[in-house]
Amino acid sequence: MNILLTGGTGYIGSHTAVVLAQAGHRMVLLDNYSNSQPEVGDRLAQILGQPVTQIEGDVRDTARLIETLRQYAIEAVIHFAGLKAVGESVARPIDYYAHNVQGTISLLQAMQATGVKILVFSSSATVYGDPQYLPLDEQHPLSATNPYGRSKLHIEAMLADVARSDDHWRIICLRYFNPVGAHESGLIGENLRGAPNNLMPFIAQVASGEQPWLNVYGNDYPTPDGTGVRDYIHVMDLAEGHQAALAVLSAGLEVCSQPAHLITVNLGTGQGYSVLEIVKAFEAVSGRAVPYQIAPRRPGDIAACYAQVSKAADVLGWQARRGLQEMCASAWNWQVQSRPGAVAKARCYRLST
Ligand code: NAD
Ligand code: UD1
Repeated sequence: MNILLTGGTGYIGSHTAVVLAQAGHRMVLLDNYSNSQPEVGDRLAQILGQPVTQIEGDVRDTARLIETLRQYAIEAVIHFAGLKAVGESVARPIDYYAHNVQGTISLLQAMQATGVKILVFSSSATVYGDPQYLPLDEQHPLSATNPYGRSKLHIEAMLADVARSDDHWRIICLRYFNPVGAHESGLIGENLRGAPNNLMPFIAQVASGEQPWLNVYGNDYPTPDGTGVRDYIHVMDLAEGHQAALAVLSAGLEVCSQPAHLITVNLGTGQGYSVLEIVKAFEAVSGRAVPYQIAPRRPGDIAACYAQVSKAADVLGWQARRGLQEMCASAWNWQVQSRPGAVAKARCYRLST
């Protein structure tokens, strides 16, 4: 298929591009490079052994999208583009609604204008809010405590209305749990601006010596060791989930032998790991110490969050295959390849102390 990946040079988009290209799809990567670099295209070409088509553009620019959809005879869109930092969304809500909600409206208008009606949307487990029960299935009540989460809720509601309005739309909303890790080549991974907020990249920087220690946000949660539990999923598994979603959409979306126009599916492993379990696994894989100290709970954090994954298996025929060891190893490899200076410095520091 000819597929447009908005936000295609970003973290999840670039890994999905690898999987889709290797499955024989033709892709166009559109990005405004606000959180990625054009060089990601060169890295992808190195991995794939063939050039990738990339376009600098903003999803809020409907005319540009229409031109792109027509020029490349696009048949399906995967919509990754958007802003994703929870704390930043509280400080800059208008930007979040503009890039995420307005950006999606612009995309939908362009798709409507060109008759492209197959869409996969990047949603998030954040739409479940504070879990009322675990594992989280797709029927769990939805809520949001910050503008980022609310932008995802708004978009999901809009997509449901669009799918109801016209039988030709076929849409899958994928609710990602906690994506981690990187492609085995170490050529692509998550772009970080400043100190990471998320656990796995922070641990990688502690292991390399770029950060002195990890703050473990709370050890008094009602979890086995008191630290927060999450459903970490390898980004390559996540990428394969998109391939499965596209296959189902292009075959004519059906649920229980009934035609469907929109479905929502969790992408997780179904397995939760605590902060301390991740620390231990990372130390084993990297051979580096990850010093930590217990800090107060982070405001807005929940105790535990992990997915019910049976719908993904039933509807998409997909399940995560990679385990924690592989997630940590690829995250460490990305750290070493992408920030060699920091890792070398850390080695000197450790040797002299
Ligand atoms: P990312 O920041 O690495 O990728 C997003 C890409 O979109 C970036 O390359 C950025 O430059 C681009 N972009 C942003 N605004 C744009 C705009 N207006 N027009 C064109 N391009 C724009 O993020 P990611 O981790 O790859 O996330 C992809 C999607 O998945 C996002 O929608 C995010 O909300 C969602 N998601 C991510 C996570 C996660 O932990 N990474 C979890 C759940 C959901
Ligand atoms: C965060 C986002 C969520 C997003 C998800 C995607 C917040 C409040 N939520 O969720 O919207 O969908 O990332 O990956 O930002 N931790 C530490 N020390 C650290 C960093 C994290 O102890 O330095 C702990 C956290 O308290 C949590 C776990 O590690 O228990 C995972 O944290 P993180 O990677 O930030 O993910 P989420 O909190 O699940």
